Amino acid sequence: MASHLGLWCSFPLALSTVLFLWRGEASPNYGDALAKSILFFEGQRSGRLPPDQTIAWRSDSALTDGSQANVNLRGGYYDAGDNVKFGFPMAFTTTMLSWSVMEYGKRMGPQVGPAREAIRWAADYLLEEAAGLPTRLYVGVGDPNADHRCWERPEDMDTPRTVYWVSPTAPGSDVAGETAAALAAAALVFRSVDRSYSVRLLSAAEKVMEFAVKYEGKYSDSLGAAVCPFYCSYSGFKDELLWGAAWLLKATNNVSYLTYLNSLAADDRVDIFSWDNKFAGARVLLSRKALVNNEKAYDSFRLQAENFFCTIFPNNPSSSTVYTPGGLMFKLSSANLQYVTSISFLLTTYAKYMASSSHRFKCGDLSMSSSTLRSLAKRQVDYILGLNPLNMSYMVGYGSLFPKRIHHRGSSLPSKASHPNPIGCQEGFQYFDSSDPNPNSLTGAIVGGPGQDDSFSDNRNDYDHSEPATYINAPLVGCLAYFAKSNGSA
Ligand SMILES: *[C@@H]1O[C@H](CO)[C@@H](O)[C@H](O)[C@H]1NC(C)=O
Ligand SMILES: *[C@@H]1O[C@H](CO)[C@@H](O)[C@H](O)[C@H]1NC(C)=O
Repeated sequence: MASHLGLWCSFPLALSTVLFLWRGEASPNYGDALAKSILFFEGQRSGRLPPDQTIAWRSDSALTDGSQANVNLRGGYYDAGDNVKFGFPMAFTTTMLSWSVMEYGKRMGPQVGPAREAIRWAADYLLEEAAGLPTRLYVGVGDPNADHRCWERPEDMDTPRTVYWVSPTAPGSDVAGETAAALAAAALVFRSVDRSYSVRLLSAAEKVMEFAVKYEGKYSDSLGAAVCPFYCSYSGFKDELLWGAAWLLKATNNVSYLTYLNSLAADDRVDIFSWDNKFAGARVLLSRKALVNNEKAYDSFRLQAENFFCTIFPNNPSSSTVYTPGGLMFKLSSANLQYVTSISFLLTTYAKYMASSSHRFKCGDLSMSSSTLRSLAKRQVDYILGLNPLNMSYMVGYGSLFPKRIHHRGSSLPSKASHPNPIGCQEGFQYFDSSDPNPNSLTGAIVGGPGQDDSFSDNRNDYDHSEPATYINAPLVGCLAYFAKSNGSA
């Protein structure tokens, strides 16, 4: 088995895809996975839950968020397996969910409504964060260090709900640029279905972007241990300024954003796309104008996007991406699937733009077509859904074998219905330490995923591999809609 897989690795990717099909494995049920990937967001909700909440083991939580600063910051999403609301990854999640609906909403069928609701849940919260401008942009609620010392249900949470913000004297162009991107992207999603909401979102996006541009700085320099090492801005803020301006340009068609984009002269080469680093995403988004509309002003972004894709594909001089023996893209050992889903989203989306103009490009001697990009993305999505050496689906509740001990407080502790009395900060660790499966299914959650040898231990303690996060799921929503509609053909 090992040598067989080892041999695989050296085949070109297209060939290994053929081998997978040749082995007779059925295509995943992308439609089922799509519905579940959206349902997951219900389990991450903070605030007052609506009557149509279907993940029933959750209930109201953090109803007084914001009161420490005399503002309303109720709602939004817990980012992962903890009970903190981190504005930076929440905004990225919102942007990627919105981009998913913009590109693939028509392919979502009955899931487009739930997808929009998942966006609205976050966008409502981001509007609250932006309500303190021009003096404050709120960027999170909940002391992350106190939170991480407890294993508590969100419904019982009694750690300090400290409110964090950036300001003209303690700036954060990264978090502001991403928040502006999220609000602008959500405005585009709602433009045709809820006009007045869309106008509110766009007006907030413009204010937040102005703040991001005017007061340059890294939010981790301003907020220190409140955001680091959790969501430190490692890549700086230039990528979010590019990303925010790209989304505002798309939402407003105001050419001053194009002038601004060109003035940033961001030539940083990247081989990743994540909640921290958005260069590649911005370049793909801007490439649409070059490919679909044939606008030459966007060609430099198109070339940068193509340089990025060459770093992702194997067997060419620019390649800097490793693959596991089973064929999974492997970028970093902690929560690797976040990179796989976000890069797969860029692959399917760029493939879509390329197909509309029959465009091709080259990586060394390799000729890249839209189907080259699509088949790599399909291979990654299929791996996540169980076409891998362990036959393990990395989506909770999808397929016959999936993670049962995810690193998630609410999922691993008994529900309020089965255990109405509070479970204290330390008391909860008996459930954390147990080897039993989690009592509550966080259906649709994608976990951090396997190691570089395709292994997975399904261990609650191993958060690098067993923790879900909103930004792992959000880009996959778009990919799943794409493959659900095209019935898996790539
Ligand atoms: C375009 O955006 C700039 C700021 O980025 C703003 O000053 C200007 O008023 C906007 N123009 C229009 C027509 O909205
Ligand atoms: C995975 O499934 C395939 C085909 O269904 C089977 O041949 C193989 O033994 C399985 N692998 C494991 C690790 O269970």
